[in-house]
Amino acid sequence: MSTPPADDLIALRRDLHAHPELGFEEVRTADLVAGRLRAAGLEVTEGVGRTGVVGTLRRGGGGPAILLRADMDALAMPETALARPWRSTVPGRMHACGHDGHTVMLIGAAERLAQAEGLEGTVQFVFQPAEEGRGGARAMLEDGLLDRFPADRCYGLHNMPGLEVGEMAVVEGPQLASSDRFEVVFDGTGTHGAKPHLGRDPIAAVGQFLTAMHTVVARETDPLSPAVVSACALAAGDFDALNVIPDRARIGGTARAYAPEVRDATEAALGRLAHGIAAALGVTARIDYRRGMPPVVNAPGPTGIARSAAAAALGAGRVRQSFPPSTAGDDFAELSTRVPGCYVWLGNGPAEDGALHHNTRYDFNDAALGPGIAFWCALVRAELGAG
Ligand code: NI
Repeated sequence: MSTPPADDLIALRRDLHAHPELGFEEVRTADLVAGRLRAAGLEVTEGVGRTGVVGTLRRGGGGPAILLRADMDALAMPETALARPWRSTVPGRMHACGHDGHTVMLIGAAERLAQAEGLEGTVQFVFQPAEEGRGGARAMLEDGLLDRFPADRCYGLHNMPGLEVGEMAVVEGPQLASSDRFEVVFDGTGTHGAKPHLGRDPIAAVGQFLTAMHTVVARETDPLSPAVVSACALAAGDFDALNVIPDRARIGGTARAYAPEVRDATEAALGRLAHGIAAALGVTARIDYRRGMPPVVNAPGPTGIARSAAAAALGAGRVRQSFPPSTAGDDFAELSTRVPGCYVWLGNGPAEDGALHHNTRYDFNDAALGPGIAFWCALVRAELGAG
């Protein structure tokens, strides 16, 4: 059973909510985090990946090392729940994804575990900046996160509106999608629109590519393994020169997948189609496929440990073992593609007025603090072998 959080953790959560900071600007938040961890007796390292903070709890001479990650950043959007006493005090900034709650739960767990007996091993409490698309995990890694704070396994947690408070979902396999972008440039030979045989038409090539790229998901991808390929930009020629075939045509879009092999195959297929169509039509193609966040895929080992910890904290009947993956992304994937990891969903209760993540009325549910802290503590006990 989870014990309710102390009032000061609720007050801290509301204070963070009222003072949201964007990615890499989490100066006040990081200060608060570092102060609390230091007061609890942890070794604290600040400025990891700019505004990131790592608190280290070391017990005994051996045991495993695990990394627990919370994100700290807010979003550049207004909060419209004006009656909320702890609403954002910063115009155009809002904790609309619950990272205020994530931060406080990890602080609460660190404070509780700093007092715990019988642990053997190391816990790295990682407070990451800039999760919302600004590359905070990558910045911490480039700052040597895993060399300076090595870990055998990593864990992340995100609140989930619609899942009951006191419930969790701990599921092996894909949790969040990868998000990549591609651009293809076809270079031909421009010519008079009335004399196409004297040139090489890149517009014909881009037209064929657009049709062909829609066969990647339909004809090449396992129907049971989701993927998305969408063209979102197309440019060639000039509407003021409708008798000119241009030299160049461009097309770009987004590609998403959950399985690493589907992601690899999609990238390869887009390249093959671009070059194949170019060769067939006598033009050249250049493809720039840029990988964004990898998918978050939960590894079997850590998922099993997280599942028993969730059951110990909340009761086995409160832990869902199947739950639909999200089409969003999370750069926790930068960690869990390097160290075996598990990313869990924590119930945030009903989405009031439909206020899901990134909605201007969303709020983290303080009633979820207790279950979240209980989970982190049970996980550390499961990993570091204390009764
Ligand atoms: Ni989030």
